[in-house]
Amino acid sequence: MNEIESVLHEDRRFPPSADFAAAARLSDEAEYQRLYRQSIDDPDAYWSGVAGELPWMEPWTQVLDWSEKPVAKWFIGGKLNASAWCLDRHLAERGDKTAILWEGEPGDVREISYRELHADVSRFANGLKARGVKKGDRVVIYMPMIPELAMAVLACARIGAIHSVVFGGFSARALRERIEDGGCTAAITCDGGWRRGKILPLKQEVDESIEGIDSVHTVVVVKRGANDVEWDGRRDVWYHDLVADQPADCPPEPMDSEDPLFILYTSGSTGKPKGILHTTAGYMVGAYHSTKYVFDLREDDVYWCTADVGWITGHSYIVYGPLANGATVLMYEGAPTTPHAGRFWELCEKHGVTVFYTAPTAIRTFVRLGDEHVKKHDLSKLRLLGTVGEPINPEAWMWYHRVVGGERCPIVDTWWQTETGGIMITPLPGVTATKPGSATRPLMGVDAAIVDEDGNELPPNHGGLLVIRKPWPSMLRGLWGDMDRYRETYWAKFGDYYFAGDGARRDEDGYFWIMGRVDDVINVSGHRLSTMEVESALVSHEHVCEAAVVGRADEVTGQAICAFVTPDASVTVDDGLRAALMEHVAEEIGKLARPAEIRFTNALPKTRSGKIMRRLLRDVAEGRETTGDMSTIEDLSVLAKLRENQE
Ligand code: PRX
Repeated sequence: MNEIESVLHEDRRFPPSADFAAAARLSDEAEYQRLYRQSIDDPDAYWSGVAGELPWMEPWTQVLDWSEKPVAKWFIGGKLNASAWCLDRHLAERGDKTAILWEGEPGDVREISYRELHADVSRFANGLKARGVKKGDRVVIYMPMIPELAMAVLACARIGAIHSVVFGGFSARALRERIEDGGCTAAITCDGGWRRGKILPLKQEVDESIEGIDSVHTVVVVKRGANDVEWDGRRDVWYHDLVADQPADCPPEPMDSEDPLFILYTSGSTGKPKGILHTTAGYMVGAYHSTKYVFDLREDDVYWCTADVGWITGHSYIVYGPLANGATVLMYEGAPTTPHAGRFWELCEKHGVTVFYTAPTAIRTFVRLGDEHVKKHDLSKLRLLGTVGEPINPEAWMWYHRVVGGERCPIVDTWWQTETGGIMITPLPGVTATKPGSATRPLMGVDAAIVDEDGNELPPNHGGLLVIRKPWPSMLRGLWGDMDRYRETYWAKFGDYYFAGDGARRDEDGYFWIMGRVDDVINVSGHRLSTMEVESALVSHEHVCEAAVVGRADEVTGQAICAFVTPDASVTVDDGLRAALMEHVAEEIGKLARPAEIRFTNALPKTRSGKIMRRLLRDVAEGRETTGDMSTIEDLSVLAKLRENQE
């Protein structure tokens, strides 16, 4: 009754090449099966093995305590410091290796070795202490993608302050809400940062956001944009002054395994943003473990994750995971297409990027911009590609495989969430034969399943709700200041299982196909359809770059499908195209999924991390005023244009 019907058919399979598999950490299906079984049947032994690879100040005495579910405790009694796991542990073996290779939007480059990063973070940490920041204090970080952002995060971790990074593109209002909710007492920002050839005045936004909030006693300002700033001499301090006389040695604070490491806000579809709380040991062990197996990093890799540190992807896969693994991480300040459409590929060529991790929304943009921007650059060093953030439609996957990966790089389509802390469902690049559009199988330690509304596991190829049945180390420990909402949002539905909010199916090979958020499912004449599958069918049409579908009320069918479509520039937008697209969907997946209405648009409303905001499109489709949280929308004018175009 409540099943989500699956209509997508995809038979292509891409096993890793023999060369790739030969050099990979895991290359044997039987070995994956063995590790996976152990991780589920004997998690204590499995996670003890992983955690034992890392340097503890004091060992843990118990691996997991789940008696106070849904709040897990991992590695009980252990003491550690996250910044020491990322920095100190590498000094002897790879002190001179580049930790952060950075390029600014204007093209300036910095290379920072592990030894230098250790010194910079220590000075920063000492500077924060000198300003009275201490263990347990909340520090808001609002910065562009410059090395000092990673340093700020690690400096907080070093002294046990809880960081709350807010993406530098958010408005003062959104920032203020997060500062207040977190009870932050210090802020770290920049005068300004580069974005699309302009300076974003970040310090000014911070000033506005904390007006009247007396609890914020310190604002550290890194000089980057050299733009004018207002100055409050009692509160504000330049970063270069803060660290000038500080020693390059700061003993890392011994943190209890379950001491909070950070808060990161994620927007719900309604209500105020949720402050996802992650603690120290479990999060770090998870980030270390997933990075090691999913990106299969080797000593000579140049690894680039294009996310912003303002998102969980940046926390786990720019800062904590790769640095804990001793990797060289490329960090880029600016926009993907500034000053030209091939900037990302130019960066890959220039810095010899070998592992590249980005979002489907970026991939779809590049498809639209044309292959020539990619082909101009030598991408022969790339050996592994990844995606995260949304379901990737098979056509975009194939393009990524062909044009960027030269048909030789495995693609890891990684499913996870801010709440899960790290990657949960993913190919293992040396083992898994991938299928375009599928995140494939659970990583070790992840007991994922597809269930119906009553929590019964569904047979293969039946769409249902994605749940995780056992606790895992990097899971969230709650919502900052609102544990009732934590229980309600993730646990009320099934009690024992974590409910991710996503619909998915598992195929006959045990591969997971994420179908999108359950809140977005469309019900046509009693058939529940996944947005992802209808969108995929639309995008497989030669003239469609991007599509979003939503349900709008319909007297006959309950809901009818309304599609918002971005066509490519070459095609004439008219009723002929509209009819052709409707027919195309009917042919691809059946008449049932044929959109009742198609609206053409140059842009879709997205969050600042690139996710399509279908809830706003539902309002447009039904001609309603928009309510709910709007602070995360990237470009408000997109919404206004969509409303103007109403027929
Ligand atoms: O709906 C899923 C989608 O993004 C949600 C999590 O978003 P967020 O907390 O912002 O974290 C994004 C980075 C981890 C999920 O509930 N999602 C994420 N990755 C995928 C995905 N959907 C399909 N396939 C993915 N690989």
